[in-house]
Amino acid sequence: MKRLPRSYTAHESRCSTLWPTLHLAVLLLFFLLGSVAADCECGYSTSVDGASHVFTDLIESDFTRVRDISDDTDWSRQAFNMSSEVARGDFGEMFVVDNVASGSTGTEKGLQLIVQGQNVEENMVPGAEIDTEREDVLWGTFRAGLKLTSIPGTCAAFFWYYNDTAEIDMEFLSKDFDTSNNSYPVNLVLHSKEASQAGYNAGNYIETNLPFNPTTDFHEYRIDFIPGKVLFYADGQLLGQVNGSAVPTMAGHLVLQHWSNGNPLWSGGPPTTDAVLAVSYVKAYFNSSTEERNKDWAGRCKDMSGPDSVCEIPEVTASNSTPGQFFFSDQNNMTNNQTVSGENGGRRLEYGWLATLLRMVLAYSLVLGLW
Ligand SMILES: *[C@@H]1O[C@H](CO)[C@@H](O)[C@H](O)[C@H]1NC(C)=O
Ligand SMILES: *[C@@H]1O[C@H](CO)[C@@H](O)[C@H](O)[C@H]1NC(C)=O
Ligand SMILES: *[C@@H]1O[C@H](CO)[C@@H](O)[C@H](O)[C@H]1NC(C)=O
Ligand SMILES: *[C@@H]1O[C@H](CO)[C@@H](O)[C@H](O)[C@H]1NC(C)=O
Ligand SMILES: *[C@@H]1O[C@H](CO)[C@@H](O)[C@H](O)[C@H]1NC(C)=O
Ligand SMILES: *[C@@H]1O[C@H](CO)[C@@H](O)[C@H](O)[C@H]1NC(C)=O
Ligand SMILES: *[C@@H]1O[C@H](CO)[C@@H](O)[C@H](O)[C@H]1NC(C)=O
Repeated sequence: MKRLPRSYTAHESRCSTLWPTLHLAVLLLFFLLGSVAADCECGYSTSVDGASHVFTDLIESDFTRVRDISDDTDWSRQAFNMSSEVARGDFGEMFVVDNVASGSTGTEKGLQLIVQGQNVEENMVPGAEIDTEREDVLWGTFRAGLKLTSIPGTCAAFFWYYNDTAEIDMEFLSKDFDTSNNSYPVNLVLHSKEASQAGYNAGNYIETNLPFNPTTDFHEYRIDFIPGKVLFYADGQLLGQVNGSAVPTMAGHLVLQHWSNGNPLWSGGPPTTDAVLAVSYVKAYFNSSTEERNKDWAGRCKDMSGPDSVCEIPEVTASNSTPGQFFFSDQNNMTNNQTVSGENGGRRLEYGWLATLLRMVLAYSLVLGLW
């Protein structure tokens, strides 16, 4: 870094005119360095059923970097009780916040949703649930890195929810996993009014097998939700598709849930030891139902066809899981005005002051260097 020539301090008259100019230049540079033009300002694209779709907003959570989930402003842990009658099982369900554990405290990487079958209290099985804070999620592509429990007797679920008759669900029953014949079923369910009137038996329900053992590694589970169509995938491979009137048209939120109620026809259980659903990440790219968010988008998206104005979402495939580790929110200029909290796993927040300091130093050294 160059120092100011001595002569500047010697000539008072010159100094008094130069210093304001210098500070103005620093200020200008400071803002230029911080608010460089952004990429992806028009959104994030993915191919759904052969057609490209663009979504404007995102929630990205790398749970392997979240030290304390209670600090995460994108998600909230749930606490509520359900009687056995309401839960339609031999037992009720008791969702407790302490059954959502952050990575560093448990045995698995990432977030852990724990079912404690051995700790039944007042006939309720303790389980775990987290929900997104945002409830304006209308159309989108939702992805979760999950490692399921091999302990029989739980239901693990990744879903989009508005109400009990507008719900898009991927459910995994650990009692149905069978290593002897490589059978790992997944239930793909659209809860709708029609299905409800038919007693939940009819409607849009697909049971299919996963092409891998979901209990040994993390895999990416994905739901694409567009008007009139819902598609389900595992590691980028299509598992099933539902279309028609059962597809919801309202805005909802995302949920991760792990529970048991002893119903032999569904979750089975309760499990005899702690059963863990591990979540390495959730990435959701979606449109907002709020006028405010849509206005924000219209303000920042100048040209949909401009270079880098729409970013393609990297896809996980059966042979390549690395794209799952990519987060737009880790790049410094790809999520401007598009997130909830402006952070991914608390990292942004932690180093925000350092970035400001660096920008300050950089601005000063650039200006001083020029003089
Ligand atoms: C965003 O940042 C990347 C890497 O820092 C850079 O290559 C790119 O040019 C930036 N885009 C804009 C629009 O400034
Ligand atoms: C999401 O919003 C973008 C921007 O308004 C729009 O171009 C796109 O069609 C929307 N997607 C759906 C499925 O409505
Ligand atoms: C659920 O029930 C347990 C046992 O009675 C009680 O301790 C807990 O406070 C209840 N939780 C909620 C959210 O009401
Ligand atoms: C869910 O919301 C829709 C639309 O508001 C409504 O028609 C339906 O009755 C609701 N279902 C339940 C179970 O409340
Ligand atoms: C594997 O075996 C179980 C238990 O007998 C059976 O229910 C299931 O249908 C079998 N799966 C396949 C894919 O054959
Ligand atoms: C509805 O879904 C089926 C697959 O379940 C697909 O073959 C068909 O093309 C879909 N129809 C529309 C209109 O997308
Ligand atoms: C996005 O930018 C607009 C315009 O500067 C601002 O009013 C709005 O609060 C911002 N929204 C978010 C979510 O950052």
